[in-house]
Amino acid sequence: MNTTSLIAAFVVLISGLIWVGMDSNNADWTGNRNQCAGDCYEQWKTDNAGGIAEMEQVKQMALAAASPAALGEQYYGQCIACHGGRGEGGIGPMLAGQTAADIVAKLTAYRAGQERGAQSALMYPVAKPMSDNDLDNLAAFISSL
Ligand code: HEC
Repeated sequence: MNTTSLIAAFVVLISGLIWVGMDSNNADWTGNRNQCAGDCYEQWKTDNAGGIAEMEQVKQMALAAASPAALGEQYYGQCIACHGGRGEGGIGPMLAGQTAADIVAKLTAYRAGQERGAQSALMYPVAKPMSDNDLDNLAAFISSL
């Protein structure tokens, strides 16, 4: 291959790249541009029960409709290491079998930084960020264990 044909090949290659680049800006081009607009997006909305905003709304509604116990179960994930998956206790006391009112009262005390048992310090940072809703949700779940 001589220099001239090398240059020619190079020019053809670059023109090709420019052509491909320009063509992907062409709105009529239907190749894979990783882009879904117009009819494609309408179809996607049909397949996915609405657009992105609707999907987010459905998610939020599901969350709002979730029962307190279900939300409490989610939150309880961070308690398992110390209180056991079924509230059977371990590092912390057994929680299973306690009433919702008891759980709320105890967590409220920890949240306020009150000492209950010798190891209350372990519960202060856990209870501190809890909202009243969190307390109710956790109590709803724990009292079902
Ligand atoms: C790092 C370990 C640890 C984690 C995590 C933890 N706890 Fe505790 N928990 C304890 C200990 C230890 C006690 C006993 C504290 C005391 O002496 O007052 C306790 C006490 C409690 C009590 C009072 C029990 C009773 O009958 O006196 C409740 C209710 C409680 N925890 C709920 C929770 C909940 C709900 C979570 C999760 C959001 C949680 N704990 C996470 C260690 C933990």
